[in-house]
Amino acid sequence: MKIEFTLNAKPVSVDVAPSTRLADMLRETLSLTGTHIGCDTVQCGACTILLDGEAVKSCSLLAVAVDGRSVTTVEGLAEADGTLHPMQAAFRDNHGLQCGFCTPGMLMSAVDLANRNPDPSEAEVRGWLEGNICRCTGYQNIVKSVMAGAAVMNQRS
Ligand code: FES
Ligand code: FES
Repeated sequence: MKIEFTLNAKPVSVDVAPSTRLADMLRETLSLTGTHIGCDTVQCGACTILLDGEAVKSCSLLAVAVDGRSVTTVEGLAEADGTLHPMQAAFRDNHGLQCGFCTPGMLMSAVDLANRNPDPSEAEVRGWLEGNICRCTGYQNIVKSVMAGAAVMNQRS
């Protein structure tokens, strides 16, 4: 099937088998390997992307479901000149990652949260990130990062 959608602010057209998962199309057909696959059972959140601005787990969707819609992956967060998105900068500055495997999904979930709630409390961040698993950090610095990133995003808007 041919599908057309917006990917990281650019129009794309892809031929894809109807059974292809969105995560696989992003990684294998489009070479956007920043979207990670950690579990295949919709638990870890490493594959989280934004679909029409809302965080979704791309391993749980068929690629054809994004026809006519807008997809943002972690590759679409930074500016064209390489300037990090405020949430990426906050993760860097607050040591919100160790191995980095969970980080793309954490970032996409965090951006969605910050767009909905410009000043999330620690409890709200922890609750929001329940669907994103990190095996390294113990979450403390991730929570700090999300709160800091949301604050900067909110100042800008
Ligand atoms: Fe999608 Fe784990 S790979 S939730
Ligand atoms: Fe390693 Fe989160 S930083 S899994």
